[in-house]
Amino acid sequence: MPIATRLTQRLGVEHPILLAPMDLVADGRLAAAVSRAGGFGLIGGGYGDEAWLAREMDAAGVARVGVGFITWSLARQPRLLDLVLERRPPAIMLSFGEVGSHARKIKQAGALLICQVQTLAQARDATQNGADILVAQGAEAGGHGVSRGTMALVPAVVDVAKDIPVVAAGGIGDGRGLAAALMLGADGVLVGTRFYATQEAAGHADAKNRIVSASGDDTIRGILFDLARRNVWPAPYTGRVLRNAFSERWRGRETELLQHQQAEADRYAQARTSGDFDVAAVIAGEAVDMIGDIPPAQAVVERLVSQAASLLAGASNRYRLLDQS
Ligand SMILES: Cc1cc2nc3c(=O)[nH]c(=O)nc-3n(C[C@H](O)[C@H](O)[C@H](O)COP(=O)(O)O)c2cc1C
Repeated sequence: MPIATRLTQRLGVEHPILLAPMDLVADGRLAAAVSRAGGFGLIGGGYGDEAWLAREMDAAGVARVGVGFITWSLARQPRLLDLVLERRPPAIMLSFGEVGSHARKIKQAGALLICQVQTLAQARDATQNGADILVAQGAEAGGHGVSRGTMALVPAVVDVAKDIPVVAAGGIGDGRGLAAALMLGADGVLVGTRFYATQEAAGHADAKNRIVSASGDDTIRGILFDLARRNVWPAPYTGRVLRNAFSERWRGRETELLQHQQAEADRYAQARTSGDFDVAAVIAGEAVDMIGDIPPAQAVVERLVSQAASLLAGASNRYRLLDQS
């Protein structure tokens, strides 16, 4: 049973589910699969490889997909946004940094502006810059973020957003998360880690298998993997990844790692290429607890919606409201 919200209406989609624009993992094939399943796919524009982005937008074919950018990185190569906007995407998502001048360009091109925020100050900045949709991202999320938890951040962002639809992100792995997000006042969810473990995702098979085997207890937030790949983010961002031999060796010894950065960065780059995830980090969030298989993306969308719809429909059977008058 479809769940209609302000988000589905604004994006013109069937289900209130967005694919997170995961760098290199959310490619054209995965984004198209999520959109064809009735959600909304976002290609991960990541750190901005122009050739990759053009190829993946082509690969999405006629599917209605958007593109997500890492805002502070986009500031280094604003041309990328122009190239994407020329293709008339229905929506652009900006995460991690001040929306500033990009907002006007995006809206003038007729695309919806989706802003992923981690604090209330960022939520206010995004609304003042004309965001059409806000994504409230809690620190349970895979990949980069800040420190607030999804549970308290979402309703607080809903209060700031007023008429703007809010999407919850971070730790949502099944229909329970979607139902809970709607109860917190959100209009839908943005999901990354769960879609990483799908057949269409562009990740390495061993990375997907590690997501299936891992527990949320096996995830850590930090900057080790960014140090190792020579990709240090501006404060206050850190990233959540699965623990591995590399993180266990260097955790708490970041200064020492910097002293060996050249050798370790070379080793890390080789590990990423060869798919050695004892060294290279698998970027994933606490939702790994809810992931036990690697199905097609369409099955993930269907499960999220059907489980949430049956929970919401049956909610009044699960609890008794005691009339004490
Ligand atoms: C593998 C991976 C890569 C990510 N890369 C990006 C990115 O390039 N840009 C971005 O805005 N968010 C990125 N994120 C964060 C997502 O936008 C989103 O907030 C997060 O996946 C939601 O939490 P979840 O992983 O628990 O579903 C990434 C997340 C993952 C798991």
